[in-house]
Amino acid sequence: MSPQSTNSTTASVQLTYDGGSLTLPLVVGSEGEVGIVIEQLRGKTGMITLDPGFGNSGSCRSAITFIDGEKGILRYRGYDIAELAEKSTFLEVAWLLIYGELPTRSELDVFSSSIRHHTLLHESFRRFFEALPKDAHPMPVCAAAVAALATFYQDVETEQTLNDAVIRLIAKMPTIAAYSYKHSIGQPFVYPQNRLDYASNFLRMMFATPAEEYEVDPVLARAVDLLLVLHADHEQNCSTSTVRVVGSSRANLFASISAGIGALWGPLHGGANQQVIEMLERIEAEGGGAEKFVDRAKDKKDNSRLMGFGHRVYKNYDPRARILKRSCDEVLAKLGIRSRQLELAMKLEEIALKDDYFISHKLYPNVDFYSGIIYKALGIPVNMFTVMFTIGRLPGWIAQWLEMRRDPETRITRPRQIYTGATLRSYLEIGKR
Ligand code: CMC
Repeated sequence: MSPQSTNSTTASVQLTYDGGSLTLPLVVGSEGEVGIVIEQLRGKTGMITLDPGFGNSGSCRSAITFIDGEKGILRYRGYDIAELAEKSTFLEVAWLLIYGELPTRSELDVFSSSIRHHTLLHESFRRFFEALPKDAHPMPVCAAAVAALATFYQDVETEQTLNDAVIRLIAKMPTIAAYSYKHSIGQPFVYPQNRLDYASNFLRMMFATPAEEYEVDPVLARAVDLLLVLHADHEQNCSTSTVRVVGSSRANLFASISAGIGALWGPLHGGANQQVIEMLERIEAEGGGAEKFVDRAKDKKDNSRLMGFGHRVYKNYDPRARILKRSCDEVLAKLGIRSRQLELAMKLEEIALKDDYFISHKLYPNVDFYSGIIYKALGIPVNMFTVMFTIGRLPGWIAQWLEMRRDPETRITRPRQIYTGATLRSYLEIGKR
C-alpha cells in the first residue's frame, strides 16, 4: 500500500481568525484517523501552528506501522504484533517492514543468505575501535561506527546501491554492537559465523572467546529474536523522526541511521531500559520499598520518574510490555533463574496500576519495563541494553527512511518557530557595556 492511499473525504474544517476565515481540508487514514491539512495555512493567513514535542502534528503519511494508543494496538503492515511475536522471526519482520509484504520462502532464503554473507567489518575497523576509550558507552560507539560505514561505501545512490546499503546495515549492526562490547571489556573480537542465524550469531560474537568452545543456547537465541521483533518499528517516534529529518536533506542512509542511534540513546527513549534496571537496583539497595518509590515518582518536587512507565502514544498497556512480561516468566523458568528484580518490577506495576495518579495520568508499563529484566537474564550487560533496542529498531528506521525518500510529498524538514527574543536594538561598543 502506498503512503498516499488515504481515503478521500469532502469534509473540511473552518478556521476563523481576526480578519478572515480559511477552509482546511481533512485527510482520513486507512484506520479512520483524521488529520487537518494545514499546508496552505501560512501562505493564506501568515500564521503558523505551535506544537512543542509535536504531540498533535502528523509529519507524514505512512503505510508501515499502525498504533492505537488508546486501545493498546500495534501492527506492522497490518499484522498484529502479538501474532508476529508468536509466529514470525526478526528477519522475516525486517523484510515485511522494508518491502511491505511477508516474504515467500525463496525471498526469505535469499534475504537471510545475503545478510549472512555481509556480516564482516572491514579490518580497518579494528583501529577505529582501538582509538576509542575503554569505558566508552557502546551507544555512541555504534553511532560512530555506523556513520563510519558511509566512508567505506561511497557509491552513487541507485536502487541497487541502496539495497546493498540496507543489507550491509542489517548484517553488520550485530557485529558492530558485539565489537563495541568486546572492546569495552578488553577481549578479542570474535568474527561472525555465517552458518548461524541472526540472533545466535550475535550471541556468539558477544560471549565466545577464542580460548573456548561456545554453544549458543537456543532458548537465549529465541528470546533475543523475540525482543528484536518487538522493537522493530514504532511509527514516528523520536529516533525514527530523526532518521527521516536527517534523510530529508538527502543525507545518505548510514548518516541518517547514525543520527537515529544518537536520538535513541536518550533516557526518555531507548535509554529507558537501562534506567529501569538502575532504578530497580537503587530501590533494592535502599531496602526494596516499592510503595516509597512510587510515592517519589508522583512527587513533582522529586526528579524520580517510574522508568518504563508512561508513553506519548499509549494511554493503555503497551502491547509489547504484555508480551514481554509473559516472556520474562518463560525465559527465567527455562533458564532456571529466580529474579528478585522481576518480582520487584511486578510489585511496582501492581501498586502503580491501582494508584490514582497513574490511573488519572494513564501511565502503564511500556516496552522498556520488562525488556531489561530479560536482557539481564540472558547475560547482556546493562550498558548494552539500548544497543539491543538499536539492532531491533534498524529495519523500522530503514523502512521509514526509504518510504520518506520515495514519497513525492517529501520536502526538507524545516519547522518554523515563534520568536520570543529581543526586538531590534543597536550594537553597543564593548567599552560601553
Ligand atoms: N512516572 C511518573 N510520572 C510520569 C511518568 C512516569 N514514568 N511519565 C509521565 N509522567 C507524568 C508527568 O509528570 C506529567 O504529569 P503532569 O501532567 O501532572 O505534569 C504527565 O505524566 C505527562 O508526562 P509527559 O512527560 O508530559 O508525557 P510525554 O508524553 O511528554 O512523555 C515519556 C512520555 C515516555 C517520555 C514519559 O512518560 C516518561 O518520561 N516515562 C519514563 C521514561 C520511559 O519509560 N521511556 C520509555 C518510553 S517507551 C520506549 C520508547 O519508545 O522510547
